[in-house]
Amino acid sequence: MRARPATPAEGPEIVRIYNQGIEERIATFETRPRSVEDIQAWFDGAYPTVVVEDNDEVLAFATTSAYSPRGCYAGVAEFSVYTAREARGRGAGRMAMQTLIEAAERAGFWKLVSRVFVENAPSRRLLRSVGFREVGVHEKHARLDSVWRDVVIVERLLTVSDP
Ligand SMILES: CC(C)(COP(=O)(O)OP(=O)(O)OC[C@H]1O[C@@H](n2cnc3c(N)ncnc32)[C@H](O)[C@@H]1OP(=O)(O)O)[C@@H](O)C(=O)NCCC(=O)NCCS
Repeated sequence: MRARPATPAEGPEIVRIYNQGIEERIATFETRPRSVEDIQAWFDGAYPTVVVEDNDEVLAFATTSAYSPRGCYAGVAEFSVYTAREARGRGAGRMAMQTLIEAAERAGFWKLVSRVFVENAPSRRLLRSVGFREVGVHEKHARLDSVWRDVVIVERLLTVSDP
């Protein structure tokens, strides 16, 4: 297994893995399956996206996106991580997150944040194991398939080199 920055060539494999997670209803409030066109902006260079592959097959990805349009929060990025259903439990998610953390540090971000469904034990454990802190719980933060869901806010400070 090895991790590297994602390129548009991995778009179809990333979308396949993302849509598995959307379908499972454990990872995200999103319910609409995504297309390669939907994720084109992930490769524009502003926010790091990484893939983990084995024998030229993408097993997992982790990606960052804007946290807030406010300038004061420019160094905070949201993130998510997905491993292909058939590749889980082999360390790909951890490798994706470790690589994303390094990429985000190099890109000058000072913090990664996300929200995780309280029931998503694999994600909570993975994120704890790569240094995330659980800040607290947003109760009834949004509805998924008409059901109100609670989410845990997670954050990890990054190592920034001050100019
Ligand atoms: C969460 C997810 C990314 C984990 O990826 P993975 O590649 O299976 O994880 P890894 O094999 O790298 O395991 C890393 C750690 O996660 C934890 N973990 C992974 N699967 C787990 C499970 N089924 N139950 C409990 N903990 C689990 C373990 O702590 C593991 O460390 P360990 O090997 O020391 O026990 C994967 O389950 C997934 O894609 N889920 C659907 C999408 C999702 O929920 N994404 C998170 C939303 S931000």
